[in-house]
Amino acid sequence: MTRPKIDPPHMGEPYLLTPGPLTTAYSVKQAMLRDWGSWDSDFRAMTAELRKRLLEMCGDSGGALDCVPMQGSGTFAVEAMLGMIPRDARVLVLANGAYGQRIAQTLRYLGRDMQVIDKGDYMPPRGDEVAAALAADPALSDVVVVHCETSSGILNPIEEIAEAVRAAGCRLWIDSMSAFGALPLEFDRIEYEGFVSSANKCIEGVPGFGFVIARKSALERARGNSHSLALDVHAQWEYMNRTGQWRFTPPTHVVAAFLRALELHAAEGGVAGRGARYARNRDVMVAGMRELGFETLLDARWLSPIIVTFFNPAHPAFDFTRFYDLMKARGFIIYPGKLTVVDSFRIGCIGQMDEDVMRKVVKAAAAALAEMGVDDAAPPEAALKERARLAA
Ligand SMILES: Cc1ncc(COP(=O)(O)O)c(C=O)c1O
Repeated sequence: MTRPKIDPPHMGEPYLLTPGPLTTAYSVKQAMLRDWGSWDSDFRAMTAELRKRLLEMCGDSGGALDCVPMQGSGTFAVEAMLGMIPRDARVLVLANGAYGQRIAQTLRYLGRDMQVIDKGDYMPPRGDEVAAALAADPALSDVVVVHCETSSGILNPIEEIAEAVRAAGCRLWIDSMSAFGALPLEFDRIEYEGFVSSANKCIEGVPGFGFVIARKSALERARGNSHSLALDVHAQWEYMNRTGQWRFTPPTHVVAAFLRALELHAAEGGVAGRGARYARNRDVMVAGMRELGFETLLDARWLSPIIVTFFNPAHPAFDFTRFYDLMKARGFIIYPGKLTVVDSFRIGCIGQMDEDVMRKVVKAAAAALAEMGVDDAAPPEAALKERARLAA
């Protein structure tokens, strides 16, 4: 098998081992070196192409879905999608990290009636729990879940959750921000009402817009439902279908870069090819870090190919800020942890990187530890005990 060609960062830029913004291909950056008129026919064709290509990635043979790009960062698109949920709905939120909690917070802003299942930092919500919650409260009509909870890197079991929601006759909404493009979300296999993702994650574009992909019936039903003028998905959809334009100033350069990113995604073998490269990145990096003594927060079966959380070493000479600076000096930007109970850091596997880069990441981590005088990267006993207790 021929390996995809990876573009190294240029002009001394470090690799971004972060889950978006991430390291992009040179040709993606180059695609931004031209200005576009936002309502010119060339740009309208670009918008149409972007929507078509994204829909082609959804495995929707019946043509039930449509794609609505929304300006702003991922959170704007999540909020826009949540604004499609009927105002009289009662919503079940499945939270196991910061992004699940943000969904609950957003729904509170939106005044939706809601119940939250909060699994903490470590554990996935399971299909049987969802089925039991829906059976216990027949007023629940909608369920929202994060596909890959980027705050820990946990890959939630979306298929069994979707099956429980379908069996209960409810609607499922997915935050697939950090998963879509690398992990399958095939509508023919997984029933959902809608999902959301953004330009700067697994499709490897630059930040500037997100997109809602939803059933056309849900888009129709969302007419007049939004709490917000700017985040009204139905209004954007209706206007885009009628005029080919975005309702308000589009991020033209970001769209141009995204189209190039989509070409590279297709050339790599689409979702399967992209997911396979990220999985190799994860496997090589995790094996190398374990050899240094680091421990992953999650059990192997829940580790996503998107981002991996490691416990901070217990060694008294370990200091995360220093570790970060030493990694940066070697050309790698890592990510602080986002857990509520233990100290941790994260290393992303997504972006223009392959397993050779990941080997260099491990070498850089070894050199950084040596420079700090840390001869053992094992985590505190208490962190491992807590993980074992919760996994039991
Ligand atoms: C799963 C998930 N949801 C939502 C967001 C929020 O996106 P943004 O920070 O672009 O607003 C992120 C960002 O990483 C994410 O990973």
